[in-house]
Amino acid sequence: MFSVQEIHQTAIIVVAAGSGTRLGYGIPKALVPLGGRTLLEHALDRIQLAGCAAQVIAVLPENDEGLADHAAHHPLHPHIVMGGATRTDSVRAGLGALGPDIQRVLIHDAARALTPPETFREVTAALLAGAHAVIPVLPVIDTIKSVTTDPGALQPHVTGTPARQNLRAVQTPQGFDAPILLAAHRAAAHWDQDRAEAVTDDAMLMEMIGERVDTVPGTAQGLKITTAPDLALAESMLSASTPKASLMTQQESGASAPLIPRTGIGIDVHAVADPSEPREMWLAGLRFPDDQGLSGHSDGDAVAHAACDALFSAAGIGDLGTHFGTDRPEYAGASGTTLLREAARLVRAAGFEIGNVAVQFVGRRPKFADRRLEADAVLSEAAGAPITVTATTSDGLGYEGSGTGITAYATALVYSPRH
Ligand code: CTP
Ligand code: MG
Repeated sequence: MFSVQEIHQTAIIVVAAGSGTRLGYGIPKALVPLGGRTLLEHALDRIQLAGCAAQVIAVLPENDEGLADHAAHHPLHPHIVMGGATRTDSVRAGLGALGPDIQRVLIHDAARALTPPETFREVTAALLAGAHAVIPVLPVIDTIKSVTTDPGALQPHVTGTPARQNLRAVQTPQGFDAPILLAAHRAAAHWDQDRAEAVTDDAMLMEMIGERVDTVPGTAQGLKITTAPDLALAESMLSASTPKASLMTQQESGASAPLIPRTGIGIDVHAVADPSEPREMWLAGLRFPDDQGLSGHSDGDAVAHAACDALFSAAGIGDLGTHFGTDRPEYAGASGTTLLREAARLVRAAGFEIGNVAVQFVGRRPKFADRRLEADAVLSEAAGAPITVTATTSDGLGYEGSGTGITAYATALVYSPRH
């Protein structure tokens, strides 16, 4: 498990803007189905299970609504950017979308759709231990020769045989210190065409600016799906894989060990604003036009705020102050549903799925019964998971009874699909 700060400072860029010419499906490769899900979705599933990055950027082909739709509906809600003509251009487009807090970035090929979550975690852990560049590698099985083709010759001839024990085949995700990788890309932008075209991956760029590149073990599942036989191999790996590698829970798969979900609790109290300061009343994602609003620097939506805290509590990743505090000015004054949407995204980025959230508020106003189903729908849409809201009064007792304030209590249940 990574800390909240470590997750916040890590981004993953998934490059998926290639056309998949060698696979020959006539559609972008990342859109090709494998066991009922697209290659892009498989890659995003495993990134979600890894739980190491708060920012996920999907680099997609221009004008491809199908892939954009799959990405937008994935629970990770990746940031979508348009790719370029070459893989390097697409990586650059992704780097342009990195958030200001990002210290580490992993670059991953959607074509390596089955790379397991453990590889993402190992690369991230190596960066956290101080590496500037880390790549997953596998020993080479074949003997490799270097060749050259003489003018007029039909076939090349061999010029050398590098020692096989020193050779490694390289996979993704490749992890980097973000500021150093950005500097390397800026330097490469001024290189002449020959030198720039010789760069086939980001690790090579780091080597060219004199940075040491470390390795972690790669896996057979990390194969790059390039041709039709690769896709068939991936298909057989997927069907042979244990439920551990899929999003299925143990209960669904019938495995014997119990799945232990995690519960969380959140409480929020807001005072009703003084009548001298008219304010809109927002509660449970809805506006109540007949009521004076709640005080607070946001919309005061105590129900949404309690739901966020319950989610953070269940995932063990801090609370509202950790994620939306004064050091995140972009959330000052944000609506309850905006905060809830982001809270759900962060919980998923930490490797959890949301079971449900239940909220009850205590207050004399607003009159809620007629709008309960509407509130459930609005909040559930924001979280991408079932949220139910109930209301009660306090029999006239206390601040809730006098109508000077509202309390909201929430519980949440999350589970880790990787168990
Ligand atoms: N890629 C990209 N933008 C490009 C080219 C490639 O984002 N302009 C991505 C691909 O989507 C893939 C990864 O880089 O995830 C590795 O590229 P490759 O396996 O060559 O995929 P394609 O370029 O799609 O395949 P092909 O070369 O057969 O057309
Ligand atoms: Mg290609």
